[in-house]
Amino acid sequence: MKKLTAILLILVMMFSLAACAPKAEEEATGTDLPSIGVTIYKFDDNFMSFVRRAIENAAADKATLELNDSQNSQATQNDQVDTMISKGVKALAINLVDPQAASTIIEKAKAADLPVIFFNKEPDAAAMASYDKAWYVGTTSSESGVIQGQVIVDAWKANPAWDRNGDGVMSYVLLKGEPGHPDAEARTKYSVETVVAAGIQVQELELQTGMWDSVKGKELMDAWIAKHGDAIEMVICNNDGMALGAIQSLNAAGYFEGDKFMPVVGVDAIPDALEQIKEGKMVGTVLNDAKNQGGATFDLALNVALGKDPLEGTSWTLDETKAVRVPYVAVTIDNIAFAEEAYK
Ligand code: GAL
Repeated sequence: MKKLTAILLILVMMFSLAACAPKAEEEATGTDLPSIGVTIYKFDDNFMSFVRRAIENAAADKATLELNDSQNSQATQNDQVDTMISKGVKALAINLVDPQAASTIIEKAKAADLPVIFFNKEPDAAAMASYDKAWYVGTTSSESGVIQGQVIVDAWKANPAWDRNGDGVMSYVLLKGEPGHPDAEARTKYSVETVVAAGIQVQELELQTGMWDSVKGKELMDAWIAKHGDAIEMVICNNDGMALGAIQSLNAAGYFEGDKFMPVVGVDAIPDALEQIKEGKMVGTVLNDAKNQGGATFDLALNVALGKDPLEGTSWTLDETKAVRVPYVAVTIDNIAFAEEAYK
């Protein structure tokens, strides 16, 4: 009898627990909208904050986002992906911390039969090819380097006085983004190669990573000004964040007053950089289209979350590597209004 009562009690408990526990999907969304799990490599990144905003705007009434700040730690991001999967998200949109970690994420997605859209940090081709439910949204990295190089060439040729010592050589310092990041590697290579291909002789005074970061950019520029002073004739930055740091440093060293000038170029065209171009402290930048990259990331993620073809009802196209590539555009004072519009 005692045994029977115990069994009955256990059965009653099991039923009441089952009744209380929401289905995985409902728990994740609390609504009928599909839930999409998103990670940003770190919220504290100028450009990525605009991509994030574009994803949030696009999601508005179409999906519920599980949005995670991976705080620049791949281990944290891996845990976040596990949690999102157990909460029942229908698709993943992943901005990797470490571009080499795509296969780890793919293993997790595969095991849960979940589609995954990588964005901004491009996985290598082998990882992308290893899973038919993986796609990428970003850019053609080399394009930003070539365009930045062209901005430098045009400005250098139009301003012979920038060759301060008149030796016919452009002496530059270069603030690089995260080493191993496809954008950082390609921008570093192609910006300088484009300048050289235009017949301009160059000398590299310094090249170090500022990890996309303003504060690090400023610190490096402080040290380089102290070491080289006016021997620096061009400041090439893999992104605007670091360019803004370099400009702070140059301001403090008395540049941009009277005829003391230093040409600085960046990539991204974030609003703060556009302000510097308007003030005449930055020569130009390259629009990295946050709005369209965020928009495309969401469009594809929503489609695959609903079990549809990733491109259904969109105007995006995929290349042979299953990537949507949003074009870069040169930005100088001449087309600044267009760039301002792109970030609204
Ligand atoms: C680049 C961008 C950088 C930084 C980086 C993060 O495309 O130009 O500013 O945001 O992505 O992965």
